[in-house]
Amino acid sequence: MLVEKNVSLQPYNTFGIMARADTLVRVYSSADLAALRADAKLGAAPVFILGGGSNVVLTSDVAPVVLKIEIKGRRLVQETERAWIVQVGAGEPWHDTVAWTLAQGWPGLENLALIPGTVGAAPVQNIGAYGVELQDRFDSLDAVDLLTGQSFSLDAAQCAFGYRDSIFKHAPSNPRAGDVLPRSMGLAGRAVITQVRFRLPKPWRPELAYVELARRAADEGITQPSAQQIFDWVCAIRRAKLPDPAVIGNAGSFFKNPTVTPEQCADIIARDPKIVHYPLDDGRIKLAAGWLIDACGWKGKTVGQAAVYDKQALVLVNRGRGQNSVTGGEVMTLARAIQTSVYERFGIRLEPEPVIL
Ligand code: EPU
Repeated sequence: MLVEKNVSLQPYNTFGIMARADTLVRVYSSADLAALRADAKLGAAPVFILGGGSNVVLTSDVAPVVLKIEIKGRRLVQETERAWIVQVGAGEPWHDTVAWTLAQGWPGLENLALIPGTVGAAPVQNIGAYGVELQDRFDSLDAVDLLTGQSFSLDAAQCAFGYRDSIFKHAPSNPRAGDVLPRSMGLAGRAVITQVRFRLPKPWRPELAYVELARRAADEGITQPSAQQIFDWVCAIRRAKLPDPAVIGNAGSFFKNPTVTPEQCADIIARDPKIVHYPLDDGRIKLAAGWLIDACGWKGKTVGQAAVYDKQALVLVNRGRGQNSVTGGEVMTLARAIQTSVYERFGIRLEPEPVIL
């Protein structure tokens, strides 16, 4: 491991917010985590686990020890008649991993192309896009418990995946009423994911249910697209709608898509017939948060250097760069103003999607 003091986190969060870490530890292996635990000072300190920094808003300097996970390595661990099982180090970049699996001839992750961040962060919020969620391609993962120093593995059920949610987002000491086990034994800040194994099913089948993908397939007259074709479509759709964090700082979707009861939805439709909504399997209705924010007229609005992206209202962006960058405070002021206006018009409370630190 490599321990650094007073480190700028600006290069390590995709929003490009200027904040500093008192101590940053680069973790290259699970052995590094054992060494960290054994260290008299570092072992006892609270930690914040950082992957690609693509889903975090830094509202101040970070006092907890920042663990920057840089565990590398990718390999096929098993091939059966029904699947390829591929194991990837938590510090590998997500998109490069998707491209690599396709190049190896192991399709299945193509709908998740171009999502920023690292492989280790993917299960934390059960990343999802264009009809596929991480949990649909997940086999198991390895992690280290910082409290006990023990390594352990979890399967999908044990990760308690939900919409942009998992056991890794829940605090150990803070079980929520109604939570089912094991989510109530949350692992946030306690467990560090070191390896993720993907189960890529055979035979491969294209996932084209998402309306924009289906439209592309129809427009191009392609009924049997290859995985590479879907990868290319997903990249094109994302590039057209979502800002590239290398160019314009952002943390992807800033709010989760809320769910409401059919009665609530009917009530909103009566007032706003155009509202974008999708029925879920459990009878509830998912609303497009981007549409709600857009309908309140937020596209392009700013607070300091924070702005609502003009092509997709669900994304907040950094209008500045370098020394002139957005602050976490500006982002949160804008976010709260959006929440208030959506609540006042629709009676819906939007929940932020990134981790606010
Ligand atoms: N819409 C508007 N105005 C806007 C934005 C969206 O009217 O400003 C409408 C769109 O026209 C569309 C609907 O809202 O009918 C939904 O928008 P979109 O298809 O762009 O998807 P989304 O619900 O905004 C979700 C994920 C994205 C993921 C896409 C594609 C969440 C919070 N976001 O966005 O994930 O890429 O679907 O599957 O679930 C992320 O989590 O960071 C992320 C980018």
